[in-house]
Amino acid sequence: MKVLVTGGSGCIGSAVCRDFVLGRGWSVLNVDSLTYAAVPGALDTVEGHGRYRFVQADVCDRQRMGRCLAEWRPDAIVHLAAESHVDRSIAASETFVRTNVLGTWSILDAALEYWHALPAERRSFFRVLLVSTDEVYGSLGETGRFTEESPYDPSSPYSASKAGGDHLGMAWFRTYGLPVLISHCSNNYGPWQFPEKLIPLMSIRAFLGEPMPVYGDGRNVRDWLHVDDHVRALALILEKGRPGSRYVVGGHGERTNMEVVEAICDIADRLHPAGRPHCRLVAHVEDRLGHDLRYAMDPARLEGELGWRPGISFGDGLEDTVRWYFENENWWRPLLQRAVIERKRDARAGAA
Ligand SMILES: NC(=O)c1ccc[n+]([C@@H]2O[C@H](COP(=O)([O-])OP(=O)(O)OC[C@H]3O[C@@H](n4cnc5c(N)ncnc54)[C@H](O)[C@@H]3O)[C@@H](O)[C@H]2O)c1
Repeated sequence: MKVLVTGGSGCIGSAVCRDFVLGRGWSVLNVDSLTYAAVPGALDTVEGHGRYRFVQADVCDRQRMGRCLAEWRPDAIVHLAAESHVDRSIAASETFVRTNVLGTWSILDAALEYWHALPAERRSFFRVLLVSTDEVYGSLGETGRFTEESPYDPSSPYSASKAGGDHLGMAWFRTYGLPVLISHCSNNYGPWQFPEKLIPLMSIRAFLGEPMPVYGDGRNVRDWLHVDDHVRALALILEKGRPGSRYVVGGHGERTNMEVVEAICDIADRLHPAGRPHCRLVAHVEDRLGHDLRYAMDPARLEGELGWRPGISFGDGLEDTVRWYFENENWWRPLLQRAVIERKRDARAGAA
């Protein structure tokens, strides 16, 4: 299988590239514009590999995407490139609309042209997988779980822009017959995640002995899934999923944010006893605007039709992940320093 992966330099995309190239023997062209979210080092094990290529390009550049497809001639596209951080979307939404809506259009339009030109037997095999999120469904109350039939009801600029990309994908399937599939995964965690997301941020703050900021009362629920389980789901959907279908991906891993933070504190207490008790660092801060209360996924279709099961328990995955951040200060410290410099630059630009 020859795959064009967009956003392959991010947390999930790099796990996809490593798994496809090293674990499955597939060939990957990674197309990524290397925004702040591209994580250095995560692709070291595939760089230089005969089945891995990289092109630095913006997915919104329609002509460039057409050339990437014409030159690489893939059997499938896995589209992950996105602006993905909700807080950033609340502060500055334009790049979210550009990348997540226009970028998805550009991929679909280029894919359609490429697909039409393929010989018949390759055309029937070709797939476009849009990697979406549970957040397009909005918030649940205390009960229930999202399924593929849940109505779209996004709350944040991020989730609304992802929903826009999804709608384009389904329209390209219905109107043109392009074999599009959409996955809706819950919150991912694991190594190489940019240190603004909850689990890396809290692990690093615990490591540094600095305040661990929790939005509001911390009762918001997320359904956590290890990134490697997500990648296995994506590979299965690509190989066995039905074009025009959606697949909900979730690890039966519902936890309140406070439960996650407390679990990180417990692990930090074991890894770094001198800093005990790390829970003294927890600091409740003003709630996020439009903060969804609860996400929970029912992955029955993925489990029943495609035989997927999450393989990594939240307890084991979290322990490994916190340990990874404790052991990889050399990786995350420059990213934090860069983020501070960018914030100062943006503040100066805002004041000018
Ligand atoms: N992180 C999660 O918990 C989660 C859950 C479900 C779905 N998703 C989806 O999975 C995908 C990947 O998420 P992630 O957390 O790895 O994201 P990320 O923010 O860590 O990485 C995004 C990658 O896309 C690249 N990129 C951004 N804009 C681009 C553009 N215009 N052109 C080319 N490349 C561009 C960045 O350089 C980066 O390498 C996203 O589509 C996201 O919506 C994420």
